Amino acid sequence: MKGVVLAGGLGSRLYPLTYATNKHLLPVYNKPMVFYPIETLVQAGIRDVLVVTGGPHAGHFLRVLKNGKELGLRHLEFAYQENEGGIADALGLCEDFADGQPVTVILGDNTTDANIGPAVQSFREGAMIFLKRVPDPQRFGVPVFAEDDPTRIVAIEEKPAVPKSQYAVTGLYIYDHKVFDYIRSISPSGRGELEITDVNNCYIREGTLRWTELDGFWSDAGTFESLFRANAYWAGKARQEQR
Ligand code: G1P
Repeated sequence: MKGVVLAGGLGSRLYPLTYATNKHLLPVYNKPMVFYPIETLVQAGIRDVLVVTGGPHAGHFLRVLKNGKELGLRHLEFAYQENEGGIADALGLCEDFADGQPVTVILGDNTTDANIGPAVQSFREGAMIFLKRVPDPQRFGVPVFAEDDPTRIVAIEEKPAVPKSQYAVTGLYIYDHKVFDYIRSISPSGRGELEITDVNNCYIREGTLRWTELDGFWSDAGTFESLFRANAYWAGKARQEQR
């Protein structure tokens, strides 16, 4: 399976930290943020990766990631997202890279120590999303479960004021090749972006979206609070491993 890391955007929620570099290159304890999602892919056996970036500091990625060998990659490609068109728009740039095969997608500001290897290896078709129980679901995509079947997702709501479950849809996804047709079929949301939640809702309507719960730590790092939380977690984990 091939992997995609989505690392575009202006990181405006982290101004002034992101005035001088891309959000995904900021430190999370002892590594640039983007190392973590790449390591999650490598741990799952994915060695062929496309990083989609954008904004004024995109060139910094080459200096940091080079050809990806240090991180265990066999092949590393870059794509440039021209505008802030959203996560699904960025994923749309990966169609040639995917070459008709499924892809595992991870957001460049998501760090986790969960092992997604089994989900990657057993994936065949449709879409797979990874949920995590969080105290603040209104910040995320939130699944709505069927009343008569609490294991069946009937819709995903993006940043709902009143969340219908305690779960966040994390920024890890596995999609089959139909994802690119779905991206072409959706329209920009209120914030002017093509939403990955709308893509996931296409798979729900098709009846081929499956989910699993991430087993381990997970956090995004796109706000001061979550960036701090991710730093604290990975620093604590490194200290524990040194003991
Ligand atoms: C994005 C997605 C959201 C998802 C989150 C995970 O939110 O739109 O559905 O739950 O990533 O990190 P954003 O980071 O754009 O606010």
